[in-house]
Amino acid sequence: RGATERAVEAFRTGSPVLIHDADDREGETDLIYPAGAVTPAAVARLRNDAGGLVCVALSSGVADTLDLPFVQEVLDHPTANDHDLAYDDRSSFSLTVNHRETRTGITDADRALTITALAEAAARPDPDSFARTFRAPGHIHLLRAAEGLLDEREGHTEFGVALADAADLPPAVVVCEMLDDTTGSALSPADARAYAERHDLSYAEGRDLLAALH
Ligand code: 5RP
Ligand code: ZN
Ligand code: CA
Ligand code: ZN
Repeated sequence: RGATERAVEAFRTGSPVLIHDADDREGETDLIYPAGAVTPAAVARLRNDAGGLVCVALSSGVADTLDLPFVQEVLDHPTANDHDLAYDDRSSFSLTVNHRETRTGITDADRALTITALAEAAARPDPDSFARTFRAPGHIHLLRAAEGLLDEREGHTEFGVALADAADLPPAVVVCEMLDDTTGSALSPADARAYAERHDLSYAEGRDLLAALH
C-alpha cells in the first residue's frame, strides 16, 4: 500500500500521522491528529515530541458557517497590512479559542477538551452553539483551509483537512510542527521518518498526498 493509503487508514483509526510539506515550501513535518481522537496524552505528545504550535485546521465550509475569518483580514492594525510570507501567499490563521469549561486553557486536559469539542462543532457546525461552547481569544489556534483545498494551497492546513475528508471524519484536524530539540530548527525529514518508525506511525510526503488525494 502507498503512503497516502496508510495515512488515511491510520487517521481513520484515530492515529496521528506525520506529513512533510515540501523542501521548497516550509520544509516542515507536522504531527497531525483527527481532532476527535485527541486525549490529554495526545496533547502531551504534541508539546513534548512535536514542540511547535498546536493548531486546529477547519474546512473552509465549516469556517464560513461559524463566521471564522482569516485574522489578517479583520485585524485593524498596521502589522496586518502586509504579510510578505517567505513560503506562501498567506497564512491560514483564524481566531484562537478555548472551550468555556476550561480554566486557564493551556493544560493538557483543557486543550484536549477544546480540541475534541472542535471536532463536534465541525461535524455539526452551528454558530449559536459555537459561541455558547467557546470563547476567544484562547489557547488553540484555529486555521482556515483554502476554499479550493489542495487545488488552491499546499499547506499542512489543507493536507490535514484532505486526510480527514478521505477518512470520512469531520473536517477538524490538529497540526503541530515537529522541531529538533537540539538545534531548534525544523526536524529533518530523515529524523521525522525515524520518529515515525520508532512509534509505528505513518509518514507521508506532501507530493504523495497531492498525487493521491487531489
Ligand atoms: C501554524 C503553522 C504551521 O505551518 C501549520 O502547518 C499550518 O500552516 P500551513 O498550512 O501554512 O502549513 O504555521 O503553526
Ligand atoms: Zn507554518
Ligand atoms: Ca521535545
Ligand atoms: Zn505548516
